[in-house]
Amino acid sequence: MQHTWVILGATSAMARAFARALSEQGHALILAGRDMDDLKTLAADCTLRGASDARALRFDAREAKHDAPILDALEQAEGTLNAAVFIGSMPEQARIDDNPLLLQGVMQDNFTGPARFLHAFAPMIEARGGGTIVGVGSVAGDRGRIGNYAYGASKSAFHTYLAGLRNRLGRAGGHVITVKPGFVDSAMTWGIKGMFLVAAPGIVARDILRAVNKRRNVIYTPGFWRLIMLIIRTIPEPIFKKLSI
Ligand SMILES: NC(=O)c1ccc[n+]([C@@H]2O[C@H](COP(=O)([O-])OP(=O)(O)OC[C@H]3O[C@@H](n4cnc5c(N)ncnc54)[C@H](OP(=O)(O)O)[C@@H]3O)[C@@H](O)[C@H]2O)c1
Repeated sequence: MQHTWVILGATSAMARAFARALSEQGHALILAGRDMDDLKTLAADCTLRGASDARALRFDAREAKHDAPILDALEQAEGTLNAAVFIGSMPEQARIDDNPLLLQGVMQDNFTGPARFLHAFAPMIEARGGGTIVGVGSVAGDRGRIGNYAYGASKSAFHTYLAGLRNRLGRAGGHVITVKPGFVDSAMTWGIKGMFLVAAPGIVARDILRAVNKRRNVIYTPGFWRLIMLIIRTIPEPIFKKLSI
């Protein structure tokens, strides 16, 4: 069956690996993001790897005007429609502490922009009676930590949104997967000190593909983060508030 995937934030390290894997399976791709030159190069690479179609379209999470052209392209595509959201931004918590106005951009990039698009896309899944949405959140959304609680709050909001959307679309044959990566080697984490168990973006892409095939609901990637976060979530608040993890 013909599948079309729109990938938002397609220039992300994880998204590139995911797009390449989908290409090798012959799917059609709409690669959406801010850097058109980079996206066109990626589209050419995906075509060479076997994508039945690969095109680049502009998408900035902070600009609602970019939604319609992508939704139009999806409407015209045949077969099952799918979306994967890899958009994310993580300014240092200390910068946000100095300039609270940065909070708005963090929420737009990690939550309201992706949710706005997915909300307009959801009726297409309902109309076609199937399709998968992959939303990349973060382990940071599982508990507010001193080091990145603004970013964590935006991811937590995204997780909650995805859970509700899963509930809604499941009734129409659609499916929603929440992906919670731990530390991953990418532009977002470049130069950050104190990271451990850092995964390659290809590992995350592989885990997401498996989750799509198995129709998983929520995954941690790599999988050991499920246990780490279980421990972190169960630390009593009187102790947790004194920790600097
Ligand atoms: N790296 C980690 O350790 C880690 C851990 C947990 C979760 N995550 C999440 O994993 C996802 C992928 O991140 P990554 O690690 O692959 O980092 P990345 O390579 O820095 O990718 C981030 C992506 O978000 C895009 N983006 C940021 N703001 C945007 C906006 N306003 N509109 C459209 N696109 C925007 C970037 O586009 P440009 O290329 O135009 O900048 C880039 O494609 C993100 O959701 C991130 O929060 C990452």
